[in-house]
Amino acid sequence: MADISALSLQQRAALGSGATFWTTTAVDGVPSIVLTDGPHGVRKQSGSATDHLGLAASEPATCFPPAVGLAQTWDPALVERVGAALGDESRSLGVQVLLGPGVNIKRDPRCGRNFEYYSEDPLLAGTLGAAWVRGVQSRGVGASVKHFALNNAEYDRMRASSDVDDRTLREIYLRAFEQVVREAQPWTVMCSYNRINGIYAAENAWLLTDVLRDEWGFDGLVVSDWGAVRDRVAAVAAGLDLEMPTTGRVSDADVVAAVQAGALDEAVVTLAAQRVARLVQRTTENTAGNASFDAAAHHSLAREAAAAAVVLLKNDGGLLPLTPSRLAVIGSFAQVPRYQGGGSSHVNATRLDIPLDEIRRLAGPHEVTFCPGGSTPDAVADAVAAAESADTAVLFLGLTAEEESEGFDREHIDLPGDQLSLLREIVAVQPRTVVVLAHGGVVRLDTVAELAPAILDGALLGQAGGGAVADVLFGVVNPSGRLAETVPLRLQDTPAYLNFPSERGHTLYGERMFVGYRWYDARGLDVAFPFGHGLSYTRFEYSQLQVDDDLTGLRVSVTNTGERVGREVVQAYAALPASEVSRPPRWLIGFAGVTLAPGECQVVEIPVRRADLAYWNGRWVVQGGDYRVSVGASIRDLRAEATVHVEGDAATTPFTRESTLGELLADPIAAPVVMAAVADVMPAGDSAAGLGVDLLRMAASIPIERMVGFSGGKVSRAQLDELLAAINSRRS
Ligand code: BGC
Repeated sequence: MADISALSLQQRAALGSGATFWTTTAVDGVPSIVLTDGPHGVRKQSGSATDHLGLAASEPATCFPPAVGLAQTWDPALVERVGAALGDESRSLGVQVLLGPGVNIKRDPRCGRNFEYYSEDPLLAGTLGAAWVRGVQSRGVGASVKHFALNNAEYDRMRASSDVDDRTLREIYLRAFEQVVREAQPWTVMCSYNRINGIYAAENAWLLTDVLRDEWGFDGLVVSDWGAVRDRVAAVAAGLDLEMPTTGRVSDADVVAAVQAGALDEAVVTLAAQRVARLVQRTTENTAGNASFDAAAHHSLAREAAAAAVVLLKNDGGLLPLTPSRLAVIGSFAQVPRYQGGGSSHVNATRLDIPLDEIRRLAGPHEVTFCPGGSTPDAVADAVAAAESADTAVLFLGLTAEEESEGFDREHIDLPGDQLSLLREIVAVQPRTVVVLAHGGVVRLDTVAELAPAILDGALLGQAGGGAVADVLFGVVNPSGRLAETVPLRLQDTPAYLNFPSERGHTLYGERMFVGYRWYDARGLDVAFPFGHGLSYTRFEYSQLQVDDDLTGLRVSVTNTGERVGREVVQAYAALPASEVSRPPRWLIGFAGVTLAPGECQVVEIPVRRADLAYWNGRWVVQGGDYRVSVGASIRDLRAEATVHVEGDAATTPFTRESTLGELLADPIAAPVVMAAVADVMPAGDSAAGLGVDLLRMAASIPIERMVGFSGGKVSRAQLDELLAAINSRRS
């Protein structure tokens, strides 16, 4: 690696900012590298027009399913293969860093960029994000986990402050980033545009240095989101290494001047330059091979991933898979598919599967009529007539690119009214109607679910989605996709409904850690389709749940009791009924997929990380106690349950005079000592019982120090201190 300390201050500052929109600056001995979007395809712009909004042209690349679709596979091995293919494409297109994955939590279904994120659950997002990073980086290409952190809305994203408490921040919003950093060691992390509790992410030393590097051990480079740096000097001081895109060297001059004025430590500039040089070295040292990629093989992988992403939401009467018959295919998305989201991630696909063509291919000799549908009376009449004269209607519904994108949020989650009217008219004449959905953010589905006997949810499936949908419709592929986010009954039911987006520059994360299913479960709300839901053309039965001591893992037998080969996604959830802090009724602690032939039974093993039992209280704490473990096919379809005792973490916070009677009595070591001591002070058990009250319970919130006064001289301060010291020494 080049000797950075031998470079001039000016050169070191220059390494820390871009040369162009997509390249770093070349300095003596350190060549320039290319960073580009990401995440579901390589958007390499080679013309003179460059932008971060997906407007100008880019070179052809495979458009894999965007994160919203990929997440529905619940399959880290598949995501890792997609990542590796993306790494190969990056190399062949001359890209050294691919800007992804996006592991922000889907806090509200209105966020315009939800299609680029995985889930409402941090474990699912973190597991899939880590797999993606491993895949990309296995090819010598750097990943950039983004947008760090709390970029959960598009509205005012470059200014608004995400105002959040510590527990929520740690348990929900930093969690997936932490998992990706610890498990997959990404070479870069991209800081977000927004502020966090008032401080811009790019200038946030706590976030970029204390947490990311010192706590999590991140050893890579922090790059800004494009245009996220307001004050480069403050950003470098906080731990930002690379500002993108170029500022025409303006911010380099700011850095140099600040060092010369003694306002910025030169050592941090050198460190940032070293990290850039290290990234350049990591991404350029093994450049042999991959001069081209196999577009056909990648298209097949895109089709495999897309098919695995399709969620069978509903299938009354076993309407699907289709048996060869006369079909009416209705809806313009069948001919002009909606397959990716708008904005910086927009990929120029190498080719595009058209659902209608793929359906016709699989329908064989049977007649397939097509009507685009629409809202005019003639178009509706044609579609209804076609549906009526066919054996089955397949109706494509969804959101257009204009209705959702990076850069803005939706105001509602409804499907267009004319689509619902068309559905109504079609099911009135054709009871065998299958709905196929395309959308980036969650849409309200109560009406669709009420009317249509069968629903396939493709979210966004990438360039091979047309083939994948046809494969699932005809049973070439048995669907195994699972929802990675809850479909609520109404927007008003959603957790952040009253606090979204920001108001006067602040977004209050008032629902705290009750995001997604955590909220619907805690509030006992019905939903249209729960987290983790997805049907199959076969059936699975669960038996013999065995949970390891201390909940380090579990095993459950799963049997395919149907007639087709299928993949089940077994989900494990934990609950702690006696939690000392507010928690959701249950939360995801692991999952695993298993593919079974008809009649086959396998034991599915799910390891559980102790970290996934912990809550944040200034540090991660695992509360000891009896955890209820459930496994099932969705959070609302639990098939087996067991209770297991988990040893808690050793207490490290000593008791003080401020500790309450309740806190002391909840501690197994302190309780007997305190009980003995207060026995003298409190009225005797019998007389308390005579009053019909539970005195200890009533007194639980009294700081122990006040017992000195209440004891009327029986206990002195010195005795209390001695008691506390004895308890603390036995606990440590
Ligand atoms: C987006 C990033 C993207 C960057 C470069 C920004 O507007 O937020 O996700 O990587 O542009 O295109």
